[in-house]
Amino acid sequence: MSSEIRKYFCPGRVCLIGEHLDYNGGFVMPAAISLGIHATVKSRSDNKIICSSAQFSTTVEIDLTKPIENETGWGNYVKGVVKYLQDAGLKIPSLEIEFSADLPSGAGLSSSAALEVLVAYILQKEAGLENIDRIKTALLCKEVENDFVGVKCGIMDQFSVATGKKEHAVILNCETLEHEFVPVITGDYGFVIINSNKRRELAGSKFNERKGECETALNEIQKHKAIKSLGEATKEDVLNLIKDKTAQKRALHVFEENQRVLLAGKALKQGDLLQFGLLMNASHQSLKNNYEVTGKELDTIAENAVTIEGCIGARMTGAGFGGCSIALVKKSDTISFKDKLNKIYTSKIGYPLSFYEFEISDGVGEKS
Ligand code: GLA
Repeated sequence: MSSEIRKYFCPGRVCLIGEHLDYNGGFVMPAAISLGIHATVKSRSDNKIICSSAQFSTTVEIDLTKPIENETGWGNYVKGVVKYLQDAGLKIPSLEIEFSADLPSGAGLSSSAALEVLVAYILQKEAGLENIDRIKTALLCKEVENDFVGVKCGIMDQFSVATGKKEHAVILNCETLEHEFVPVITGDYGFVIINSNKRRELAGSKFNERKGECETALNEIQKHKAIKSLGEATKEDVLNLIKDKTAQKRALHVFEENQRVLLAGKALKQGDLLQFGLLMNASHQSLKNNYEVTGKELDTIAENAVTIEGCIGARMTGAGFGGCSIALVKKSDTISFKDKLNKIYTSKIGYPLSFYEFEISDGVGEKS
């Protein structure tokens, strides 16, 4: 048994544009970020995985000789990944894993996908697999989240933290998994991540309800037309074939946001940041009015950010219902932008924002 320590890191992700499209078979544009979860790993020899976390007081102990049961809390993500990899035939090594995160949890930056993908990567690497298939790893972790944890998320988060590329965003077709990495070159501007500090509980929130409403929309269209996912619907399909008014609003967001991702991809490639910013603003308004996942905290951020000098676009990021927003801000104005936005937010909401420094980073990996 080796007493040597190995180190691993999995980034979180920020979605630049393309929200609530992944489980509708649409396009999304996320990027992995330098905020994430770190792990130090030591071998054991007792058929156990023992995990601790600098952020949580509970320890997670998994006996690899016994059936793995569901539990609540952060250990569930670890248990789910161990179980699904075991079921897939991986000989799980006995390990002691210590996690520590500089990624806030429950803030819309994919802390759960980061934990799942980190554990899946560690287990495969420690089991001696040399060429870990990052896309298969992402798909397995999505299954864990959907069926073991019970959140009916799409593939965006797991895909971006597993496959991320430094200084690039990925434009991902969530139906086919075809993807293109696009350099994020923003010149005098930079993305700022803003935490509303309103916590978002994904499983307990309206996430699964939105997914259900999109299924209603798809079913209504499918009565008249053979399409596989809502992402394939045209605007006419949405306006003429969906009778349920709520489902129709959700589908309208899906149609329009999908167009915005493609336009944003073009704008990014052409260095047209003003256009990119306008698309971010339109995305936020659609998430507010048609998808209804913003709330007063996220609206206060996005709608006030763009009135402040230097900011050319702002939107919520992630599932919504609280969590983080992202703004595109002139670098020379960033300090005053943060200060002004924080003052407005605190006076309207009653508590301050947090801001994070980050870079766009590579996906999960072993660290030296
Ligand atoms: C969460 C889910 C993702 C995606 C986003 C919304 O982060 O885990 O799959 O649906 O919300 O875009």
